[in-house]
Amino acid sequence: MKKIKILNVVGARPNFMKIAPLHRAFVKTGKIDSKIIHTGQHYDEKMSDIFFNQLALPKPDYYLGIGGGSHTHQKANVMLKFEEVVKAEQPDLVLVVGDVNATAACSIVAVKMGIQVAHVEAGLRSGDRKMPEEVNRIITDAISNYLFITEHSGLVNLAKEGVPDEKVFFVGNVMIDSLFHFRQKAAASKVLETLGVRAKDYILMTMHRPHNVDHEKGLRDIIQIVKDAAQHRKVVFAIHPRTTNNLKKFNLYDTLASIEGLNLIGPQGYLEFLKLMDNAALIITDSGGIQEETTYLQVPCMTFRDTTERPITVELGTNFLLQDLNPVTVKIQMEAILNGAAKQGIIPPLWDGHAAERIADILLELV
Ligand code: UD1
Repeated sequence: MKKIKILNVVGARPNFMKIAPLHRAFVKTGKIDSKIIHTGQHYDEKMSDIFFNQLALPKPDYYLGIGGGSHTHQKANVMLKFEEVVKAEQPDLVLVVGDVNATAACSIVAVKMGIQVAHVEAGLRSGDRKMPEEVNRIITDAISNYLFITEHSGLVNLAKEGVPDEKVFFVGNVMIDSLFHFRQKAAASKVLETLGVRAKDYILMTMHRPHNVDHEKGLRDIIQIVKDAAQHRKVVFAIHPRTTNNLKKFNLYDTLASIEGLNLIGPQGYLEFLKLMDNAALIITDSGGIQEETTYLQVPCMTFRDTTERPITVELGTNFLLQDLNPVTVKIQMEAILNGAAKQGIIPPLWDGHAAERIADILLELV
């Protein structure tokens, strides 16, 4: 029997942990020829290579080498190069995950070439079209053939946008599949010892949204949040290249780096970061995925955003949103959580480590 050929697209850091379990599940069926296309939006060792190694992902079959640049530049170049790949490979399906530039760019190319598209992590909506990711989500969902969703809000959002029910599948969360698979391995990491912090005795931070880090006021607010946090616990800040670049641009990097009690570290590997999340007293972030990972790990999370596309993490999980993006509010909330006001939370339905297998079964039946 001829195998189904699927091109799996990855572009940026949050894609790698989503594609890893899918590729594994596809290969395991013995009926899918699963190929990996890396657009190269994230390209360096710390933002990309280490994830391939740690997640046991094979080297990409194609590397498009796009790199950084404006969103138009990134998307246009991805589209031109991905078109060549699709022509050469003639796949049965293109699979995209999440909401990064590669997700939208490659789904457009595939649809225009008459190839079916599956979008994994479909239906999430923050309602904020100023976020580049929101626009990527809307475009991708509007043109995909198969929409795999992680939480109930996805069903509601897609129905509102007129997507027929038969295209939508509630399968759970492939990012949690990776976490489930690698949590034990991550526990062996020595990152806490290396950083000189003790389990449940530090605050972990990440910040990288353009809305928070592309302007001076946002960076100054972040510095104030770190100062306040460092009054209570050691702070580990795994800083994203976008944030580092902007701090340097506004001459604020040294102000941040000199805060006493702060351990400023660069982007971490998947296993090291998982260990850091699992053992944090509290996480302060503006990430999309960390909201879900902390909900699964039942670690308190404060999200420095006023909306979330992942409402289940607030409804059932351990996530708090900051309605008013202000360091004073963060301080009050942080102190309350550290003094016992954290939610225990419950793990959302179908976040059980088997989402990728469900997706493989559905695609084998329908493609
Ligand atoms: C992208 C995604 C975002 C995701 C984030 C996670 C979009 C629209 N945004 O945002 O959804 O949450 O990744 O990391 O796709 N850089 C490096 N090394 C790298 C990669 C990037 O130094 O390996 C630098 C770039 O040159 C650029 C900055 O980091 O200056 C930002 O990279 P970019 O890909 O534009 O967007 P992210 O902010 O990472």
